Formats: sequence, structure tokens, C-alpha cells
Amino acid sequence: MSNATSAGPGRLHEFGAVAARAPAKVNVTLGVGPLRADGFHELQTVFLAVSLFDTVTVRPAERLSLVVRGEGSDGAVPADARNLVWRAAELLARHAGVRAEARLEIDKSIPAAAGLAGGSADAAAALVALDALWGTRATRGDLARLAAQLGSDVPFSLLGGVALGTGRGEQLSPVVARRRWDWVLGIAGDGLSTPTVYAELDALRSAGTLPDGEVVASTEPVIAALRSGPPSALAAALSNDLQAPALRLRPELRRALHAATEAGARAALVSGSGPTVAALADDEPAAVRLAAELAGAGVFRTVRAVHGPVPGARLVG
Ligand code: C5P
Repeated sequence: MSNATSAGPGRLHEFGAVAARAPAKVNVTLGVGPLRADGFHELQTVFLAVSLFDTVTVRPAERLSLVVRGEGSDGAVPADARNLVWRAAELLARHAGVRAEARLEIDKSIPAAAGLAGGSADAAAALVALDALWGTRATRGDLARLAAQLGSDVPFSLLGGVALGTGRGEQLSPVVARRRWDWVLGIAGDGLSTPTVYAELDALRSAGTLPDGEVVASTEPVIAALRSGPPSALAAALSNDLQAPALRLRPELRRALHAATEAGARAALVSGSGPTVAALADDEPAAVRLAAELAGAGVFRTVRAVHGPVPGARLVG
């Protein structure tokens, strides 16, 4: 079998397996506009891909099957046709005119329902791995279009780096940011449902508790700060319109944000729809110190020091 001996990128030496990995993301700024007729909100966001990765390994098989290992494998992540990876396989197979046949394995380090786009990372990695396994010859543009059909964050998981996201988040303009940014992610025990957080934002806006969302904050300051720093400029530019509804649904997050700044973070914000807290550090040693401090504070289930930008979904092995 030619697959068993080839050693191209992503191709493992056993049974023709192909592996790809994709990163988690933090929304460095997330402006949420009004609710659209299609049930999504208009966004202005700046995505940053960070160094916490899920890996999807795919192998030749006679039908689709799925195994989930690591984060969420206790049942939080479905290991069947509901999983975005399964849907990615069916979508790519239909696009390429091939049979959806593969054994799919997800090794998760990105926690589920954490505001880190873990499910989107898995879907993006699956598209890249299955494209190689099936030899579909899909272009990066083809994969991006399929990604957008799977979820608002999947195109960014494919692209990685730093990008301005508009539309429902799926329309991307890459941003060149050569500087490295260090963060500590404070991960909570229980996840938060993204639709529930958006619905809470709508409820707060219609009750007049929050402004109505017609004016979406400019992304210019955060892009300028990301490009060249200093950390104080990025700290001042961080924002997230989903933070207020996430705090309403999870009041203890206020203490978690406070713990991060008390422990020496430049600034801290809720990542995406939460409940992960993203704490900005000045540099890598500061992030290591901050992670150690926060691990001892007892407010998070897990604490991870990460950095970004990192590339999007890529073959590995
Ligand atoms: O696109 P995705 O499947 O990740 O979105 C999950 C849910 O998050 C949507 O069904 C919607 O309730 C909410 N959402 C939104 N506006 C966006 C993105 C997501 O309201 N731009």
C-alpha cells in the first residue's frame, strides 16, 4: 500500500493515516451588531490564533466512524454524526464527489464550549486531513467556503494568524502581526452555550440595560496595537461585547477576571462567548509566572500559558 510507506506532511507511517492540527482562538476585540434575519449577529472582530491545538487523525475505512479523546471525551463532545468533524467529512465528500469513508479521531486539548473555537478547530483540521486522505485537490478557497458552511469561526480556524472578521465572523481579512503575544487562558469547569450568550446580549439590549448594538466599536486601535505593541496599548484596546452577557450568566467570572489582573495580567477579558478568561502578559516569563499564580488561586479548572499568532489548520507528522 503506497500510503503505508509515504512520508509526506501529515501522513503517518501506519495504515495510511493522515493527521492535521488546528489552533484555539481568542477574540482580541469582539463588537456585536444587531441580530440579523438569519439568526446570526453582524460582527466586527479581531481573531488571534493561539498555541493550544486539537489534532484530527483520519484513516482509510469502509464507513465513517469517530473517536474523541482528551478534553470533552467524557460526553461533552458528541462522538457521532452531530460532531462538526463528522459534518465536515460529509460536506467535503459531497463537494469532491467521493464516498464519505474514514475513521476519524480527535485528540482534544481545547476545552469544549469555552469560547476558544475548539469545535471549529476540529472541523478545520478534519477538512485539511480528509482533503489529503481522499486526494480531493480542494483549493484553500474551496476549503474556506466549506468551512463557512460548518460554522462562523471555522474559516478562521483554517486561516489562523491574526484576522479581521466581519459578516457573522466568516469573512476574513488577514492582518500581518509579526510580534508575539503571550496570554494565560483560565479555563472554567463548566462550558457556556454560545447561542445562550448571544440571546442574553439581545435580552440585555432590548431591556435597555445595554446600548442597542447599532454602533460597533472600531477595530483600528486593536489592529495597530497587535502589529507593534506595546502591551499597554493592546491592553487598553481589548474589548468584548459578549463579556457583559457572559458575566450575567456566570457571575463568578467577575472574580476570575479580577484574579487575573491581581495576579499580574496586563488586562483580562472573556474569550468569545466564554467562560474562558484570556489574560494578557507582557512576555513569556511573565506568562509563566502568571500561569503559576493563577493555577494556585483556585478559580480555574485549568490554566494554560499560550502565545499567538500561530498558523491555522495544517498537516502534521
Ligand atoms: O456559526 P456557529 O454555529 O458557531 O454559531 C453558533 C450560534 O452562535 C448561532 O446559532 C447563533 O445563535 C450564535 N451566533 C450569532 N452571531 C454570530 C455567530 C454566532 O448569533 N455572528
